[in-house]
Amino acid sequence: MCGIVGYVGFREAYPIIIKGLKRLEYRGYDSSGIALLDNGSIKLSKTKGKVVDLENRAKDEISLNGTLGIGHTRWATHGEPNDVNSHPHISNSGDLVIIHNGIIENYAPLKKELINRGYTFVSDTDTEVLINLIEDVKKNDGLKLGKAVRVALTQVVGAYAIAVFDKNKPNEIVAARMGSPLAIGVGEDDKEFFIASDASPFIEYTNNAIYLEDEEIAVIRKGKKIKIRKISDDSIVDPYIQELQLNLEQIEKDGYDHFMLKEIFEQPNAITDTYRGRMLVNEGIIRMAGIDDNLERFLNADRIIIVACGTSWHAGLVAEYVFEELSRIPVEVEYASEFRYRNPIITEKDVVIAISQSGETADTRAAIQLAKSKGAFVFGVCNVVGSTIARESDAGAYTHAGPEIGVASTKAFTTQITVLTLIALKLAKAKGAISNSDYHMHLRELELIPEKVKECLTLDNHIKEIAVVYKDMPNFLYLGRGFNFPVALEGALKLKEISYIHAEGYPAAEMKHGPIALIDEQMPVVIIATKKGHYDKVVSNIQEIKSRKGKIIAIVNNGDVSVREIADYVIEVPETLELLSPLLTTIPLQLLSYHIAVMRECNVDQPRNLAKSVTVE
Ligand code: G6P
Repeated sequence: MCGIVGYVGFREAYPIIIKGLKRLEYRGYDSSGIALLDNGSIKLSKTKGKVVDLENRAKDEISLNGTLGIGHTRWATHGEPNDVNSHPHISNSGDLVIIHNGIIENYAPLKKELINRGYTFVSDTDTEVLINLIEDVKKNDGLKLGKAVRVALTQVVGAYAIAVFDKNKPNEIVAARMGSPLAIGVGEDDKEFFIASDASPFIEYTNNAIYLEDEEIAVIRKGKKIKIRKISDDSIVDPYIQELQLNLEQIEKDGYDHFMLKEIFEQPNAITDTYRGRMLVNEGIIRMAGIDDNLERFLNADRIIIVACGTSWHAGLVAEYVFEELSRIPVEVEYASEFRYRNPIITEKDVVIAISQSGETADTRAAIQLAKSKGAFVFGVCNVVGSTIARESDAGAYTHAGPEIGVASTKAFTTQITVLTLIALKLAKAKGAISNSDYHMHLRELELIPEKVKECLTLDNHIKEIAVVYKDMPNFLYLGRGFNFPVALEGALKLKEISYIHAEGYPAAEMKHGPIALIDEQMPVVIIATKKGHYDKVVSNIQEIKSRKGKIIAIVNNGDVSVREIADYVIEVPETLELLSPLLTTIPLQLLSYHIAVMRECNVDQPRNLAKSVTVE
């Protein structure tokens, strides 16, 4: 993971880099650092901790001048998070500086070789090896910086997005990418350039961006056209400059205390944006170019395999129930990290759907590469436009949720379910697996979901009261059945991620095969008991919990009577079709985790040890 930012141009680099790093903190936040080039000398400041810690330190430690600089916010891979292991790293001569997002897998033999040649190392990082390798190549072969970086990278195995500068070249940064994202913002008339892990650090300066592809290296010089080459064979690549749609508002908190809360409250709009222009309710049409253009592939598929990680995997589980229910196509859902290494049977008649908010998750990328190598058709469901998975898939559909900054995923989950439901409905219609009236009823109900989500959001204060009661419990159990079983998993994941309370999600009926042994008066059980989801069975499960003194927080439909009599707390959500209910039942679970985490004074948007975009294995 890690976030990287760089600037070369006519403005002061420091404020641009610090602000950019703050926007990229979702990618890692255990340490950070900055290097500025000030009149031919490198000003370096780095520290364990967050970007604000860096700011406090840098102002006392270095002069903050310079129109060229690079900065880094880290999620440690090699070497614990401390001051020394923080980036940037400097080469032995003191001339070259690097920031790096990724992992150099063969750093150990490279380091050994460099030590034999007299290089010394101060950190435990793979990155310090890389900058000295570049220096070694540059010195031995008498190469310019861009060439030296390229040649050094041909010796490297692993993933990287890097930016490097030489203190003797005041207007030049070299950037390269393999496996980790890297965007270059191009200022007016090439007077300035920005480098970043995504476009958010430079969006207020320019809408023009180049996304480097894997295996590409760019030499960026103030006042000159960017030069891009292939790392492997040095061939020239024409830069493709695209115009970004992103705006500043979308990446700011807008009065909310946290991004997570803002994103929870954005869900009515986000879901509408997902189906807007695609679902024409009156005409009974669902338009999705990625499906329309490849309809035969889907209709002739022996099965659909869904690969994803984390919350996206939970959306995949919901989609399995929805696809099988509506379109009667067999579906398997796999953790991308398992799928990629377990020698799965994949054929040309399989359709693989990769779900990823960021579109950068390393395991999901590897899973789709494997699927493609076996001839399967790969369809990407991503949120980040232009992301790697979106580009590497054969076709796809964006969720259009807008930027999700909070590390705990919320609106990405509900919009993923929305887009997957649209696909399932479209395929069901094309296959004749759904009656006309059912099809139209589903469209009409889906259209009502944003209003019903709004109604769920009005429960916020009530949920806060429940959070006060249970915030200090050491464990939680989440139970759901059918379409709401994945919602139970997702609810438990949210609580774990942001409040550090141990929580498990289980299918309600499986409780009696193990988790029931855990139940006592210290065990809150969050159980989804909506009317249409095997209600009577779930009510029996609630009785079983009650008779063992468990505390029950039940998600029920408006006006529920039976569960109210037994549960400690009920949270009422509006009724909808059973297969759409996850879009509603998930909202109170997001809010419950959020409030518990805030009350426990946890860092909601940047929980410990996590990162939003996991670009390492
Ligand atoms: C990380 C994030 C999760 C996310 C998962 C998959 O673990 O913290 O919130 O669900 O990666 O990410 P993706 O971008 O592929 O959906």
